Amino acid sequence: MTERLSGNGIEVEGLVREFKNGPRAVDGIDLTVEPGEIYGFLGPNGAGKSTTVHMLTTLLPPTAGTARVAGLDVATRGPEVRKVIGAALQEAALDPNLTGREHMKLQTALHGLPKDERIRRGDELIERVGLSEAADRRVGGYSGGMKRRLDLALALVHRPQVLFLDEPTTGLDPQSRASLWTEVTRLSVEDGVTVFLTTQYLEEADQLASRVGIIDAGRIAAEGTPAALKSEIGRPSVEVVPRDPANREQSKEILDEFGTPVPAVREALGIRLSEGIDELVGIVRSFDNADIELASLVLNEPTLDDVFLAKTGRHLEGDESDSGEMALPSAQGGPA
Ligand SMILES: Nc1ncnc2c1ncn2[C@@H]1O[C@H](COP(=O)(O)OP(=O)(O)O)[C@@H](O)[C@H]1O
Ligand SMILES: [Mg+2]
Repeated sequence: MTERLSGNGIEVEGLVREFKNGPRAVDGIDLTVEPGEIYGFLGPNGAGKSTTVHMLTTLLPPTAGTARVAGLDVATRGPEVRKVIGAALQEAALDPNLTGREHMKLQTALHGLPKDERIRRGDELIERVGLSEAADRRVGGYSGGMKRRLDLALALVHRPQVLFLDEPTTGLDPQSRASLWTEVTRLSVEDGVTVFLTTQYLEEADQLASRVGIIDAGRIAAEGTPAALKSEIGRPSVEVVPRDPANREQSKEILDEFGTPVPAVREALGIRLSEGIDELVGIVRSFDNADIELASLVLNEPTLDDVFLAKTGRHLEGDESDSGEMALPSAQGGPA
């Protein structure tokens, strides 16, 4: 039992997973998740998030390195690890022909709950994730958000101390996403459950996680609290759209005096300010002096995407992503 003294945290050292005829999907990662915290594992598609989760949940043996979950080595203490963890994985298979309540019944039986507790525990969890109304409907008719909430309820049946959620909100609408965040926060804050959650969404890591590990191509590019990561990058950036596209070159020259260029969305020009937001006045004055009218000027505080960009040279959420939060008005579109 001595291993348990380290609590329900996660400790990973030099973890590697190489696939036969495949990439080194996880390429030597180190990380620590404190008991009861929500750790956000943030990275683009193919970064190695699921492979990491599969090793931590004992579904896949590591090629090298060690990982301990609740003090138990995943390579040698599999059955004990599986008793203390819950997992909602990407490929979770729900049976469309069964109802939510029937899924809970199977899961509680699978985990060996005494017969008289099964119904009570199932109903309690269904209620907890807000599926009481839909509990007797077949899962085939559930929305994406309802399915993810059922996944979560199923993962909680045996009161796990450590919970793994692999992209639990990918493809969900903002409202379903928010309600899942509320529930995950409650598990961490009220029940002391350690949560290891993977995501492609900056905002999710930012809002939900107490600490974030940014993974790219199997390696951890940066780790820390969202606030610390962002303040490490420091300076805000500015995006400008000249109303007349013919002024683009000259606009770029003006901006270059105030900072270093950064990628910007669509027709915008972006710079990271060399000094800070005091320079905004100078920028506006310079455009005014040059008689260049602007369709928009946006100040962006550093985000986790800036952190990702600074560490990897690429954006985390591509232009085709559904983030949509940076959309600027078209230069031609506005009234003159
Ligand atoms: N079973 C497998 N065999 C070979 N390659 C794999 C296998 N599983 C994943 N990969 C590869 O490993 C890399 C990481 O995948 P994955 O961990 O699923 O990334 P993520 O979950 O971050 O999207 C990808 O290049 C993927 O194609
Ligand atoms: Mg994945």
